[in-house]
Amino acid sequence: MSRTKLIAGNWKMNTNFSEAQILCSALKKTIRPSATVEVAVCPPFTHLSIVNTLLNGTQIMLGAQNIHQDKKGAFTGEVSAQMLKDTGVEYVIIGHSERREHFGETNTIVKEKALRCLELGMKPIVCVGEVLSERKSGNYLNIVEEQVREGLSREMDPKKLVVAYEPVWAIGTGETASPEQANEVHGHIRSILTEYFGSESAQEIRIIYGGSMKPSNADELLAQPEVDGGLIGGASLNAEDFCAIVTAGEKQ
Ligand code: 13P
Repeated sequence: MSRTKLIAGNWKMNTNFSEAQILCSALKKTIRPSATVEVAVCPPFTHLSIVNTLLNGTQIMLGAQNIHQDKKGAFTGEVSAQMLKDTGVEYVIIGHSERREHFGETNTIVKEKALRCLELGMKPIVCVGEVLSERKSGNYLNIVEEQVREGLSREMDPKKLVVAYEPVWAIGTGETASPEQANEVHGHIRSILTEYFGSESAQEIRIIYGGSMKPSNADELLAQPEVDGGLIGGASLNAEDFCAIVTAGEKQ
């Protein structure tokens, strides 16, 4: 089964308007349509519209970093699925560890957010991953399993689903999961997806890796059979590095 890889840049709370414009024009120059790799960028909410315009005419897709789980209403400061859809968003990162840690997002909230996103035809990138103490205790597969089981539901459309394995100890630390460590967890996630959606559908779901992915380690991570792409933080802010990771994906 060959899955189209997904390389997505999570800009987090970085870039001002002019930096975003410079980044987009560099990506536009370098990234070419590819049959084997899909590329997406997830800028801050305030830049979604301009980035959408700047990337118009390219194959680079627009993603958001968060969504609210309610359809509309008195939720000051929040952004709904419909608002994202209207802005041209195709992917939404959901349940990133930074949101779980700093904004109290639980697996239940993650599931609600993913459902809202799917209702409007957008694709959720549902993030899971263990913290360092859980890795060290050897309990990491159980932790990730619980996040997957509780964050997803069998009624979701597997064709639109992306799961991102982001070990928290590897995010922004420069420390990366080894290719074998990533592949092991991805394989475990796929076994749960198989139970939820059946083998054929589970084989089509992309499970991407995030956590200090950079040009120097992208080749070996993306070469793993269960690693279907990357969710890139720091390196996505540098056009040259991000494009090198996209190229690494195309080589696999
Ligand atoms: P880094 O690539 O900076 O480690 O961030 C990964 C991440 O959190 C992507 O969502």
